[in-house]
Amino acid sequence: MDIRLDAISHAYGETEVLRDISLEIPAGRIVCLVGPSGCGKSTLLRLIGGLERASQGRVLQLGTPPADCLNPLTYIFQDFALLPWRSVQGNISLVLEDHGIRGARADATIDDVLARTKLSDFSNALPRQLSGGMKQRVAIARALAVNPAVMLMDEPLSALDSQTRELLMDDLVALWTRQPFTAVYVTHNLAEAVRLGHYIVVLSRRPGAIREIVEIDKPLGARGYGDADLEVIQKHLWDLMREEARAADEELLDV
Ligand SMILES: Nc1ncnc2c1ncn2[C@@H]1O[C@H](COP(=O)(O)OP(=O)(O)OP(=O)(O)O)[C@@H](O)[C@H]1O
Ligand SMILES: [Mg+2]
Repeated sequence: MDIRLDAISHAYGETEVLRDISLEIPAGRIVCLVGPSGCGKSTLLRLIGGLERASQGRVLQLGTPPADCLNPLTYIFQDFALLPWRSVQGNISLVLEDHGIRGARADATIDDVLARTKLSDFSNALPRQLSGGMKQRVAIARALAVNPAVMLMDEPLSALDSQTRELLMDDLVALWTRQPFTAVYVTHNLAEAVRLGHYIVVLSRRPGAIREIVEIDKPLGARGYGDADLEVIQKHLWDLMREEARAADEELLDV
């Protein structure tokens, strides 16, 4: 299933937040969203996820969701949002129970997603017994359990220290390489964007409009740290972001 954003604009009262965003999110691809703080990235994610309705424009779901998809649009939050009193498998079984899935089918799904996120040995652990990186892997496992068409990830690694982030980047690349998933991934970190994104959408300062879409066709598994091609792209992205941030500052001075 692909997602198409068709001329999305959004305002909160008098505040225009997003302007005329048209974008394709193709199945099996990771689309990274970058842009200055406050430009509307989280808002766009909420509109895609249907948590809010755009003032103008449409979010279209094209084609059929994957087999066994319980929830086409599934969020992964920065703060993991795990229930502290439920074990790792208990947190995952909860979302399956919500969809009436119990017993052997639930167990098989839980085993599968724990294996994919390398958490099989921790199925009975409570969240407080896990590191931050592992908690986020549980949140990813829980999202995968509903076999979403698109995972909506809002700065999922930003609560983690830099070493853990790098390890989780490797984990996400490995996870995607074994079984491609579709994601919209919001980040402030351009190194993350060039490591993970098939497409990087640069939003302008508020009201966020598409400034540029950069496609990176190098396979995720072939991208490494210190990769010269990626550094060139990252520098280009940084130049765009700097321009937007400077222009936003100047507009503030004009007020
Ligand atoms: N529910 C809301 N009501 C009113 N204004 C809102 C609401 N949510 C967001 N805004 C405003 O919309 C603008 C965009 O916010 P949003 O959180 O989408 O930006 P962002 O790009 O995710 O920022 P950041 O990079 O800091 O996470 C901001 O000016 C924010 O104050
Ligand atoms: Mg945000």
